[in-house]
Amino acid sequence: MLPTLTTPRLSLRPFTVADANALQQLANDPLVTDTTATLPYPYGLHHAESWIAIHDDLYASGRAMPLAVTTREGELLGTMGFAALSWMHQRAALAYWIGSAHWGRGYATEAAGALVAYGFADLKLQRIWAECFTRNPASARVLEKVGMRYEGCLRNEFLKHGVFEDMLRYGLLADEWYAQFDA
Ligand SMILES: CC(C)(COP(=O)(O)OP(=O)(O)OC[C@H]1O[C@@H](n2cnc3c(N)ncnc32)[C@H](O)[C@@H]1OP(=O)(O)O)[C@@H](O)C(=O)NCCC(=O)NCCS
Repeated sequence: MLPTLTTPRLSLRPFTVADANALQQLANDPLVTDTTATLPYPYGLHHAESWIAIHDDLYASGRAMPLAVTTREGELLGTMGFAALSWMHQRAALAYWIGSAHWGRGYATEAAGALVAYGFADLKLQRIWAECFTRNPASARVLEKVGMRYEGCLRNEFLKHGVFEDMLRYGLLADEWYAQFDA
């Protein structure tokens, strides 16, 4: 069963089929899809429904942990989750987006902080990493704000809309995350 996490302003909880309409409306936005690796545009209701339908299997098979990001009142804002989970190597990647109407309010940072804490404290991960296009400074900033270190630039790492994109790689180790609690 996918977990539910809470922060002062947010819930991170499993998606349900009831989220499909709101998910489609948020994701069917070129401002969102342009800097994600995998979201298609246009993003139809069938994309939302088929993605939500595989979440239990992704989690049960240990491959990914996608969660809905909502306000504490229940409004869907976006998604924050673990992708590329590897139990063998005790690592996972953060994958996320927030609906464009909600940008700049610290929601991605708040959600990422909760997921990073869950990854290290509950899942006992050793390493949490993420990557973003070089042309996505807002995403890089989110990663820096949750304590990730810049690890390098992967040149021509990703082919997006026929253009090879450089990607910035960030990572955080368990020891580094726990060090923040040392007085
Ligand atoms: C990246 C994304 C998740 C950020 O969500 P958000 O909720 O707006 O993020 P936050 O408000 O927590 O933090 C954003 C930070 O980026 C900064 N920022 C925003 N635009 C920026 C820009 N053009 N250049 C530099 N910094 C920028 C903000 O000022 C803020 O930093 P601050 O708190 O130090 O001021 C959101 O823009 C998004 O979903 N984009 C489309 C999908 C995507 O790119 N997903 C990530 C794929 S790697």
